[in-house]
This record gives sequence, structure tokens and C-alpha cells, in this order.
Amino acid sequence: MTIAIVATAFGGPEVLSATEIEVPVPGPGEVTVRVRATSVNPIDQKRFSGLMGADPAALPMRLGNEAAGVVTAVGPDAQGPAGPVAVGDEVVVYPAPGSYAGEITVAATGVVPKPPQVSWEVAGSVMAVGATAVHTLEAARVGEGDTVVVHGASGGVGSLVTQLALARGATVIATASKRHHDTLRGYGAVPIVYGDGLADRIRAAAPSGVDAAIDTVGTDEAVDTSLELVADRGRVVSIVAFGRASEGFRLLGGGPGADPGTEIRSNAWRTLLPAVSEGSLRVVVAATFPLTGAADAITFVGTGHAGGKVVLVP
Ligand SMILES: NC(=O)c1ccc[n+]([C@@H]2O[C@H](COP(=O)([O-])OP(=O)(O)OC[C@H]3O[C@@H](n4cnc5c(N)ncnc54)[C@H](OP(=O)(O)O)[C@@H]3O)[C@@H](O)[C@H]2O)c1
Repeated sequence: MTIAIVATAFGGPEVLSATEIEVPVPGPGEVTVRVRATSVNPIDQKRFSGLMGADPAALPMRLGNEAAGVVTAVGPDAQGPAGPVAVGDEVVVYPAPGSYAGEITVAATGVVPKPPQVSWEVAGSVMAVGATAVHTLEAARVGEGDTVVVHGASGGVGSLVTQLALARGATVIATASKRHHDTLRGYGAVPIVYGDGLADRIRAAAPSGVDAAIDTVGTDEAVDTSLELVADRGRVVSIVAFGRASEGFRLLGGGPGADPGTEIRSNAWRTLLPAVSEGSLRVVVAATFPLTGAADAITFVGTGHAGGKVVLVP
């Protein structure tokens, strides 16, 4: 038995409760992992809020989709992308459905070795945002010499988009609240505040023009500014603005009509984990909570200003 966090109704964080569940014995191609860290992502709250549908058949709803931990049992043919998985292995798991739990049984195809130098908190929170970040850069074709606007550059996704774009040799104009500007400048980006006059501030920061824009925020301001400043709509990418799907820019992820980028995302661990391990890619952990503090953790993420990853530590 283990403790899992479930949503028992659609609504706010108050619908979450900790419940005891049976951990399934791993079948063929599956492994069981004792969770040491699991990340809270905004999608978790969106799923049980009712925003993405409110079918009562989906309740009680398990939450979370990435983790890091230690393998406690393996089924037959438990083969991960990096090779066979064995009891005692320290691993990163993504996807990891139901990862808000003490122990999970998952498909071995999402289980890869955790680099020893990477903390549990970072290992359990880098993959969802990191795979998304890699996908945005591929979709926007960001490379050497490009000037790119990253909306929400202090966020979980945006901070990785920023660092990875810089590593590709791009100039990054990074929107964020003032309190994050020193960190963004430290990465090598040009930070600016969002809000009224954004397009003018971007023009001033990028006098030769903007080649691509990556929106991790979804406001009309972010989308309108991107469409105004980037000539090629194929190089304007959003992971949030699904309501504006008809406007010719690229939508990525699981939303209607969006490009899921399945192969790019499932291979992203190959570059992300070495980069965090060697320190060239930084994941800011803003806060950790015990598993039973999931409602508080989700409330914090829901502010939109957590300032980094929020991690549950069972
Ligand atoms: N489609 C996909 O595949 C996919 C994948 C992952 C995430 N997402 C979505 O992407 C979004 C971001 O996720 P995340 O994990 O990066 O969230 P996060 O860590 O909470 O980051 C939120 C970011 O938004 C900024 N922000 C908040 N209010 C803003 C405003 N009014 N104008 C401009 N910027 C504002 C914050 O900046 P400051 O704190 O500096 O103010 C911060 O940089 C979420 O909606 C999430 O569901 C989509």
C-alpha cells in the first residue's frame, strides 16, 4: 500500500485528498518506483479544475506525470530507452501518470537512469518542462544568430527555453517580473518586464528585429506582440494560447489541433539530463512540499509566479 493524492471532485485544491492505494505489481514491460520527488505542473490543476472536461467517470483522479525515485520491482522485459531496468536503480520517470504518490507502477519505456549528480528534486521536475522547452525551440527553428522573444522566461518552461535558446547561440529577449531579471541576465538573456508598452520595449532591446517568439504565458499581450514583431508566423510558438488556434502560429502540446511533438519530447532526456548533470542547464526549485501538502503546492503554482519548480517530496 502507498499514499496517493487524488481529486475526488472537480474544483479547487480543496477537492484533493490523500488516500491509501494498492500499488500494482508490475506486469510485462513495467516497473515499480518508490517516488523520491514529483513535480507540480500547471496542467495538474487544469485537469481537476474542470477546465479540460468534467466527466465524473474520471474521478477519483490521480495526479502528476513525472517523478524521480528508486526502482523497487520490475516486471518481465522491463526495458527502458537506456537499457534494462533493475531493482535499486535510481531513475527519472516521464511520463509517470499518477506520480503524486509514494510508489507508482509505470511503463519502463519512460524510465531512464538518474545522473548521480542531479538532486531528486531537479530530477523529478526537469522532464515535463524540459521536453516542452526542447519542442518549442525545434518548432520555432531557433538557432545561431536568431533573436528570440521568450514570454514567461522566469517560469518552469520559460527558464529552460531561455537557457537552451542561448546555448543554441540565439539572443534572448526574456519577459518576466523585475525580481527575476538578475537571474535571467545571469543566463545571458536581455530581461524586460511584461505589461503595457511591451512591443516598444522589445523593439528597443532588439533593434535589428525579432526572428521568433515562444509564448509560455498565453495572454493576448504575449500573442499579439509576437504576431506584430515576427514576420514568419511559423516561428511564433505558443504552448498555452489554444483559444487563438486559427491565427496561423504554432500550437504545441496536448491541446486541440496542437502538435504533440511526441518523438522530440520522448527523446529530450538524452540532452536534458546530461545538461543538468554537468551544470550547463539550471532548474530553479522554488519550493518543496510533503506529498500531503499537495493542495498548498498547487495553490502556490496557481499564482503563476512561483519563480521555479514546485516539488512534492513523499
Ligand atoms: N502545451 C504544452 O505542451 C505545455 C507544456 C507545459 C506547460 N504548459 C503550460 O504552459 C504554461 C506555463 O507553464 P510553467 O510550468 O512554465 O508555469 P510557471 O512556472 O507557473 O510560469 C509562469 C510564467 O508566466 C509568467 N507570467 C505570469 N503572469 C503573467 C502575465 N500576466 N504576463 C506575462 N507573463 C506572466 C510568470 O512570470 P513572473 O513570475 O516573472 O511574473 C512565469 O514566468 C502553463 O499554462 C502550462 O499549463 C503547456
